[in-house]
Amino acid sequence: MIRIMFVCLGNICRSPMAEFVFKRLVEEENLSHQFVIASSGTSSEEVGNPVHRGTVKILREMSISCDRKRAVQLTKEDYDTYDYLICMETSNIRNALRIVGGDRQKKIHRLLDFAENPRDISDPWYTGNFDSTYQDVKEGSKTLLMYLRNRHGI
Ligand code: 4NP
Repeated sequence: MIRIMFVCLGNICRSPMAEFVFKRLVEEENLSHQFVIASSGTSSEEVGNPVHRGTVKILREMSISCDRKRAVQLTKEDYDTYDYLICMETSNIRNALRIVGGDRQKKIHRLLDFAENPRDISDPWYTGNFDSTYQDVKEGSKTLLMYLRNRHGI
């Protein structure tokens, strides 16, 4: 079983999008039984809140429901529970390191470091551009899954 936690700042825009897009991707490849997939934020600001309507709209266009998702904050224990903590941007990595207390097992990565052109995923909470977030999340999810299939031989 491969356990993946997607991490952003608030857990209402980018990391829930990555969680549900990645879930769909592994479903399409008949690999759901191999994965545990979740998302969280480094901030407590949005804890308990539903997914942002911009992300809901993108997911709805793919017939994906995220109605039951509520924002949670990343915990120190998550570092032991998950095999990969996949952050959306560099500042998420810094904040995640502070919460989990270091990355001895090299579990923390940036999503688009798996892509051909490594970069941050900018925050649609500030940019308002959920379409470009989706393009980035889709690219990152595909390249991450390719990496994992290779690495774990699945
Ligand atoms: P996210 O976006 O990290 O992609 O979920 C944000 C959501 C909320 C806030 C910041 C970023 N906030 O400051 O509340």
